[in-house]
Amino acid sequence: MVQTATPPAERSLSEEADFLKLKNFDHVHFYVGNAKHAMYYWWKAYGFKPVAYSGLETGNREFASYVLESGHIRIVVSAPYGPSSSLAAHHLLHGDGVKMIGLEVDDAAQAFEATTSRGARPAWEPRTETDEHGRYSTSAIHAYGDVLHVFVERSDYKGVFAPGYRPLDLPHDSAGLVALDHMVGNVQLGKMNYWVNWYHQVMGFRQLRHFDDKDISTEYSALMSKVMENGTGRVKFPINEPAEGKRKSQIEEYLDYYMTPGVQHLALQTGDIIATMEKLRANGIEFLRVPDTYYDLLPERVGEIKEDFARIRELGILVDRDDEGYLLQVFTRPIQDRPTAFVEIIQRRGARGFGKGNFKALFESLELEQEQRGNL
Ligand code: FE2
Repeated sequence: MVQTATPPAERSLSEEADFLKLKNFDHVHFYVGNAKHAMYYWWKAYGFKPVAYSGLETGNREFASYVLESGHIRIVVSAPYGPSSSLAAHHLLHGDGVKMIGLEVDDAAQAFEATTSRGARPAWEPRTETDEHGRYSTSAIHAYGDVLHVFVERSDYKGVFAPGYRPLDLPHDSAGLVALDHMVGNVQLGKMNYWVNWYHQVMGFRQLRHFDDKDISTEYSALMSKVMENGTGRVKFPINEPAEGKRKSQIEEYLDYYMTPGVQHLALQTGDIIATMEKLRANGIEFLRVPDTYYDLLPERVGEIKEDFARIRELGILVDRDDEGYLLQVFTRPIQDRPTAFVEIIQRRGARGFGKGNFKALFESLELEQEQRGNL
């Protein structure tokens, strides 16, 4: 599917200097109700390797925390030991969810200065922690909802994750997940452009793609989405807002259960989606299924692909083509009880888009589930 050309007004955004100089995603930090269970989930279901732990045994008396890695993806899950912790308040309001998006920089103090001088609300000022493995510096700003962007400077740190964590070495069975492709935020009706401008002005991001409710709508619910990316193109943040539909938008359902704007999904890249899906399905991960008719029309819509169409259909994988290539993707059901955050698995074969051609089929499938929850 051919993507619409970027209109001239938006092209000027890409000429903006990349003053923040983000290197890449550093980590995604979930606050959860039970860190041990969450660790087990990412370890056994998604094939992440547990690499570090912080908790009572390491002198952390406030919360238990595990760090897991798969390729370049690093996920942290933390849960409070008692009700007075700020993690407990976060969990009471939101359930399990992403609290911090760590972004790697060369200089955490410079990133703080660059963003707060452009209007970002500070979360914490630049600070350096040291241990026998070196110096680890961070600073943080508030983004949408209760989400923080944490600037992480780790070039002088040789330990696992951060000071206060000790290594874990557990055997794991990788599912082939190699990189964080993008992370999507859901914001309130009418707030998408506010956050698009915020990422442009405060973070120096530019707009990559634009979808509106004509692209992303079904009979009942709709959303609008714009994709912001940093100067290197490695950090991509699509921002969604609900659009008016006949009935409740899936974004509204998220906001009703998460209680504030927050992270909707993490897209995890694999180099072999067939192998990854075989593992994830065997491990019990639940995925959205699109109607069978989707597969009847697929060969005609996407043309020749390297994968076997029958296998793609069996595994419920979606395919979309744009002018640069194609991509394969699949979406999980929510990863906690509240219908909030979920995971996307994506393999790119040239395409740099987000699967626009799949949106309609996908959202119909999503709404079927939303209806079953009594939330449509
Ligand atoms: Fe996505």
